[in-house]
Amino acid sequence: MKDTNDHQSDERFSLAEWARSIKWSALQEMLQQDARTGSISFALGLPAVELFPTKALAQAVAQVMSTNPAALQYGAPCEKLKTQIARLMSERGVACRKEQIFLCAGAQQGMSLLARLLLDPGGQAMMEEMAYTGFQQAIEPFRPLILSVPTDLDAGIEVDRVSSLLKGGARPSFIYVVTEGHNPLAVSISIERRVRLVELARQYKIPIIEDDAYGFLRYGSTCAPPLRALDEQWVLYIGTFSKILAPAFRVGWIVAPEWLMYRLSIVKEASDIDTSTFAQHVVSSYIDQGSLPEHIAELRSEYKRRRDSMLLALGKHFPHGSRWREPNSGLFIWVELPKTIDTTELLKVASETERVTFIPGSSFCVNGKTGYSNCLRLNFSNSSPERIEEGIERLSRALQAVGA
Ligand SMILES: Cc1ncc(COP(=O)(O)O)c(C=O)c1O
Repeated sequence: MKDTNDHQSDERFSLAEWARSIKWSALQEMLQQDARTGSISFALGLPAVELFPTKALAQAVAQVMSTNPAALQYGAPCEKLKTQIARLMSERGVACRKEQIFLCAGAQQGMSLLARLLLDPGGQAMMEEMAYTGFQQAIEPFRPLILSVPTDLDAGIEVDRVSSLLKGGARPSFIYVVTEGHNPLAVSISIERRVRLVELARQYKIPIIEDDAYGFLRYGSTCAPPLRALDEQWVLYIGTFSKILAPAFRVGWIVAPEWLMYRLSIVKEASDIDTSTFAQHVVSSYIDQGSLPEHIAELRSEYKRRRDSMLLALGKHFPHGSRWREPNSGLFIWVELPKTIDTTELLKVASETERVTFIPGSSFCVNGKTGYSNCLRLNFSNSSPERIEEGIERLSRALQAVGA
């Protein structure tokens, strides 16, 4: 879809001020480009198609269709699914009741609904300097003042900076964080920082939006608890079936205090009436079969194998002076190249001559800032180990071509 700004005409009606300068995110652009070119893509956070549990899902669809035609109707949220999610949350160390669960169309809608409830036009929002573009888009219509905080690549959000901003009088409507497998930086927040963050939220009475899209995809034997396990009043937790089952269902959830549910349901109705009733019931029926824990274990094991293949290939092919860390969770590796390399330029060469893609680091900068131009985000879930080896080798050729 092309922006038609270049065909200006006097006949145009005017758009809301915030919408006049909107652009596709780099992720959306890449989704279209990858679909056209068939490149090896390390660009998007896509789960592996070949790992979708299609047989079990086909059974779930058949079961819903044969027993519950009302699943095709408008409908109230599926109470059984809420109970199942509450059980799933206990595996993340979170104790919650089904009354504290709000079903929504993926994590993305969870963010939009919370932004609509929390943020006033022109209000303050606190987040990291590098943040998931979907969240940036969710808050864009409010044109907030963004208070950005740096991130330590080993321990996560710089909580000292959060503290000093709050001490200095900043009063954001919320703090947004991705606790596990940060997108794009791939870091998981250290336990000490999790505890301090929650203490600050309580002290200054500022809610935290905890985006836990990757919380179930961890590769070590242990994992620190999500923020929601540390506090139920100030943490608004967002979860999703996109990465552990399939994004096409568009089923996610918010764990929030019960008093917020009524208001969430009103902004949800204004947004899309219901989360697909059919999708909710299919997901619920699939969970009923009992194989979700096994499926998640399989995803962890296969994605770990792919992560390790990518780490190995990077070590073998990438130039001296490049740096990366082993991520404990999520679907990405964050790579810092020597400062002289501009990854936007590298992407042009890599996609045109080597047919391999990634997302340049600068695409994730908040506040329209520039920076991180020598960095790139690589996804490892959506390619086999063989394709990963091949793709990283191609990328290293592109690196040579731009002078690395
Ligand atoms: C950090 C993060 N949050 C949320 C989402 C959106 O997830 P969903 O498909 O559930 O809307 C993504 C998708 O990649 C993500 O990376």
